[in-house]
Amino acid sequence: CSRGSDAGPAPTPIGPDSSAVRAAEQVRRANIGTGNTVTASLQARPTRIDLGGVQVDTWAYGDRIPGREIRLRRGDLLRAELSNDLPAESTIHWHGLALRNDMDGVPGLTQSAVASRSPFTYEFLAPDAGTHWLHPHVGMQFDRGLYAPVIVEDPAEGADYDLEAVLVLDDWLDGVAGGSPDQQLDALRRGGMPMSGMDHGGMSGMGMGAPVDPGNPLGADTGDVTYPYYLINGTLGADPFTVRARPGQRVRLRIINAGADTAFRLAVGGHQLTVTHSDGYPVQPVTGSSLLIGMGERFDAIVTLGDGVFPLVASAEGKQGQGFAVVRTGAGGRLDPGVRPAELDAPPITGLVLRAREDVRLDRRAPDRVHELMLGMDMSGYRWTINGAAYDEHTPLEISQGQRVRLRFVNQTMMFHPMHLHGHTFQVVDGQGAGPRKDTTLVLPNQSVEVDLDADNPGQWLVHCHNLYHGEAGMMTTLSYT
Ligand code: C2O
Ligand code: CU
Repeated sequence: CSRGSDAGPAPTPIGPDSSAVRAAEQVRRANIGTGNTVTASLQARPTRIDLGGVQVDTWAYGDRIPGREIRLRRGDLLRAELSNDLPAESTIHWHGLALRNDMDGVPGLTQSAVASRSPFTYEFLAPDAGTHWLHPHVGMQFDRGLYAPVIVEDPAEGADYDLEAVLVLDDWLDGVAGGSPDQQLDALRRGGMPMSGMDHGGMSGMGMGAPVDPGNPLGADTGDVTYPYYLINGTLGADPFTVRARPGQRVRLRIINAGADTAFRLAVGGHQLTVTHSDGYPVQPVTGSSLLIGMGERFDAIVTLGDGVFPLVASAEGKQGQGFAVVRTGAGGRLDPGVRPAELDAPPITGLVLRAREDVRLDRRAPDRVHELMLGMDMSGYRWTINGAAYDEHTPLEISQGQRVRLRFVNQTMMFHPMHLHGHTFQVVDGQGAGPRKDTTLVLPNQSVEVDLDADNPGQWLVHCHNLYHGEAGMMTTLSYT
């Protein structure tokens, strides 16, 4: 988000010693604290990674993509030490967790950026069960592979499945010809409006297309692999991630879209998916052939496995290419990573058709405050805007503790905008009080989505498009408790 250089008049950080933030954390500890502490360490550094036949020099946590999963239980305290061995400032944002504001990882807003070669300890109570993830909130860093799953188990939830598989989807892309992601963004800005994603309209118009020469930007031997590299758990289809199980077993897929610019349509050949959670929160189960996952969104789905070897495909919506993994329960040979299951052709389940499970719905109540966020673009340059302003000139949206707040996202463009709110879980407004609880919602071209939230977590919180290019080019604003 705000990178020191172009952050403009940054809002005053609420600061780590804010008494309201500390008080909110005390309430969490008293109400749901388990007394357990889980520790993790994240070493961010430049490294060479094998993406499954393609070697790349990039940045990662612990020399792997994704970084090692962090798993804890709701109400546990997480103490995570970041050692920043990158040649740049960094932070960690805990995407999906309504945690204390001063641990939210937004430089210039909730903390100062963590300098190169220095450590920083994140410590907070994890209030929300579910499938979440972490990534830096500085420039284009997470596009390089700095991300990891954060799985928060709900001790009260019975397991109606036999095994789990966490799947992290990515449209991995490095800078221009090995340049830094920030140079890449600057190149985008200088190049004006990228039009490639604009031609398709509708469901396929959300991307902006490949922002660099797709020929051979890394000088690597890419063979027939499409660049950006579509990865599932850090690997290409040539050396696919494999889920191993027995026929008849029920696998819970925890799917995270860590892609910067790609919505993925996911299917398992020969199988149906039953979606049980969106962004960590339970929904009334919906069964279908495929699932559309916007950038930053997560879904959990249960699949009852047949006998054999099956493709698990994450197709890049509106683009060429797919991430490819394998589910193996029986005999069978190697699959062609280009195989496209017919399940992908049925209309996908999206977050917008889901309904929250009854026990996680907000109580019905009229909003005390409504903020409209007009999602637009500025034709004079490569800038994406909210209410006509990019982040460096935004006006904070004021809310007050205890209010029911409605955000109305109005998409005035022909692109997808996966809008993400920090520090809260909203409920999509569907007129019946039954929309899904989420923290990231796709707003389709020329459509609107309304979400309600309870202002119960004091601080200053980002709201932004999780298309990393849109967000970094301005499509961010803040909710500010007054
Ligand atoms: Cu996934 Cu503001 O972030
Ligand atoms: Cu966007």
